[in-house]
Amino acid sequence: MEGSLLDGVNKPETQEVEDMTVLEKKHSVVIEAPNKIGKEKKFKVVVKVGEHMEHPNEPGHFFEWIELYADDTFLSRIHLTPEKTHHKLITEIKLNEPTKLVGRARCNIHGVWEGEKQIKIE
Ligand SMILES: [Fe+2]
Repeated sequence: MEGSLLDGVNKPETQEVEDMTVLEKKHSVVIEAPNKIGKEKKFKVVVKVGEHMEHPNEPGHFFEWIELYADDTFLSRIHLTPEKTHHKLITEIKLNEPTKLVGRARCNIHGVWEGEKQIKIE
């Protein structure tokens, strides 16, 4: 990774968890959702960080927010505070066409991180 983590959007350079750096493991955004869903049928989406390696959750270092997009369309956002909340966004959505779900999360020290998951329609 070049430049500052606070510029732009960060992504791990690999999808293979064992090849990720410690920084990437702590900040990679994981989207949990079915691979394939029924058209216009509600389904659960979880956007989470710190799954591959626990990220701090204290006043000096924590995730400030998590967002969910359907392609470029904004869907949901959760604001977080350290210690008592956990860095996880859980919601239900419905789609009517194949969509790339995109999750973004901002660490107050290490900037914005992004992950994605392609959803098919059956
Ligand atoms: Fe961080």
